Amino acid sequence: MVASIHHYIEGIEDEQTGWLNLPIETEDDLLNSIGNVANEIKCNADILVVIGIGGSFLGARAIQDALTPYFGQHQNGVEVVYVGQNMSGAYIQQLLNSLKFKDIYVNVISKSGTTLEPALAFRVFRQYMEKRYGEQAKERIIVTTDSKKGLLRNIAQNSGYRQFVIPSNIGGRFSVFTPVGLLPIAAAGVDINHLIEGAKKAAIHLKEEKLEMNEAYRYAVIRHALYKQGYQIELLASFEPSLARLHEWWKQLFGESEGKDKKGLFPATVNYSTDLHAIGQFIQEGNPILFETFLHFKEIIDDYRVPFDNRNEDQLNFLSNLSFNEINATSKEGVAFAHSNGGVPVIQLELQRLDSYHLGYLIYFFMKACVMSAYLLEVNPFDQPGVEAYKNKMLELLNTKLATEQI
Ligand code: PA5
Repeated sequence: MVASIHHYIEGIEDEQTGWLNLPIETEDDLLNSIGNVANEIKCNADILVVIGIGGSFLGARAIQDALTPYFGQHQNGVEVVYVGQNMSGAYIQQLLNSLKFKDIYVNVISKSGTTLEPALAFRVFRQYMEKRYGEQAKERIIVTTDSKKGLLRNIAQNSGYRQFVIPSNIGGRFSVFTPVGLLPIAAAGVDINHLIEGAKKAAIHLKEEKLEMNEAYRYAVIRHALYKQGYQIELLASFEPSLARLHEWWKQLFGESEGKDKKGLFPATVNYSTDLHAIGQFIQEGNPILFETFLHFKEIIDDYRVPFDNRNEDQLNFLSNLSFNEINATSKEGVAFAHSNGGVPVIQLELQRLDSYHLGYLIYFFMKACVMSAYLLEVNPFDQPGVEAYKNKMLELLNTKLATEQI
């Protein structure tokens, strides 16, 4: 089964599989031109406002959060903020207020060019930029959209905005290695060359047909076997808080790719230690419908040693030879042991270091695993017909509301 799906995936030259060889085929010219625009943004702006939703923002935000400091911004980057993922008037008003004394660039990202949430946000920001920068606004607005079609593409052409292209054969949730992800994270200070190198390594490794040689397929097969045994929820668990947004990206990737035809594991996520003191009780002893996938990076750049304290009133001197990261790693082992002993199956994914190279590898790994997993379920990983239902109803209600108000 895996071998035949493998041949199918590698063989289909359809409209959705451009991401498969993308990291191998990405040319230096593209990386350089993204790097140049990112440098221009860093020179001329304090903030990059990124407008996008779903696959047009989750990947960039995930990588930015994972690889930039918890407090303050990356020394090589500007502050990158996101809008167009919600329709909160308070959010947009407060964002605009916060920009008053800052210089900004805008990167609007939408493959279709018609998604309501980012389209509305872009309407606001286009006018805001024109008011603030006049003729210069068009130098500060960068559009990332489909190479061939869409309203946003037309707007960009008509107004002379610079454009980066989302290849037509790459769907939103598989687009993080295109300018969709690369421009915002390059502006945030992340090394996009290393990211692509890691993804390229994965693209080559994970072309292996044999299950025992292909870690992505193994992960797909194990989670599929657990699904067949009746497990309904996969919990992605990490012990590093900066991975919380990567969880969100993963949730979208698997949720939108697999959740159709009344099938699929529900993708949920937890951040430990925080969630051990929130949902940990349920995981250990509640309804046994879930299994966990632990995501662990062995090396995290910064660490802190537990100080020795002569008073030892808190009785913690026994830990004073250890660092927080060492304690965290031991806690991960303890949690994995306790949960699996309690009947919760645990899959462990381990990477050497939390850096752009390994993150590139991991993200490609998940995309390849997800596609194999969806085909094992016999669903199409590349569409999302269910998302249309809310859009149609929302537009119908908006039209009704306007018609009623006009009477
Ligand atoms: O994975 C997907 O295809 C979706 O999540 C899209 O990325 C999301 O709906 C945004 O679409 P667009 O980029 O066309 O605005």
